Amino acid sequence: MEWFVKAFLKASLASLALGVSLGLAMAAHPPWTIHRVAHMHLVLLGFVTMMIYGVGYHVVPRFAGHALHSARAAGWHWWSSTVGLAFMIVGFMLRAVLPTSGTWILVAGGSLSAIGAYLFVYVIWRTVDGSPAAQAAVARARESANAARRAPLPNLPVSSR
Ligand code: HEM
Ligand code: HEM
Repeated sequence: MEWFVKAFLKASLASLALGVSLGLAMAAHPPWTIHRVAHMHLVLLGFVTMMIYGVGYHVVPRFAGHALHSARAAGWHWWSSTVGLAFMIVGFMLRAVLPTSGTWILVAGGSLSAIGAYLFVYVIWRTVDGSPAAQAAVARARESANAARRAPLPNLPVSSR
């Protein structure tokens, strides 16, 4: 398993733990529901989306039968999404009390998270298509299968009986 697959799964699980803890805190102390959007993004952007990123990077290349388009971009994606999520959560929580500085931190984190998501779209899209070499190999295999289908059947020896 690639390092970034493990790292996405761990970031996802850590977000779930933090998200449900904040949920429980809000349930126990209603004034803290001002942090509802931080809770929501921890569980939806953190837990759900990071889990999909990690599982997607592991499974899509195997389903598609092509190597992952760029492991380097997937590694950068992990950094961008993880640092971005951390800034977003701080930004959302700060914005509930300090709107201006909270918004700037949220915009910085949101931009990193969005860059991460765009990287995922790009890498998975290219992985589904496969490299030009893989596409050429598939075309060659299809052509030789067609040629074999068109070839006349060999003359089989006829029994003398
Ligand atoms: C121990 C687990 C959880 C607890 C105790 C919890 C608790 C809460 C609380 C207290 C609220 C605020 C409700 C209000 O504004 O009055 C809330 C909102 C929300 N939670 Fe959770 N939550 C938990 C897990 C989850 C999970 C796993 C998800 C999604 C995967 C989730 C998604 C949401 C969403 C989307 C909202 C916003 C709802 C809205 O504003 O309409 N929560 N949660
Ligand atoms: C780049 C990533 C993202 C950014 C920057 C972002 C930003 C935001 C912002 C600024 C809000 C408004 C919060 C407020 O009312 O104060 C919001 C709301 C919301 N976001 Fe996101 N978001 C992102 C990704 C996601 C993802 C991936 C999901 C779900 C899988 C999601 C689900 C929601 C929902 C359901 C709301 C409505 C909350 C409500 O009004 O109760 N977001 N988002």
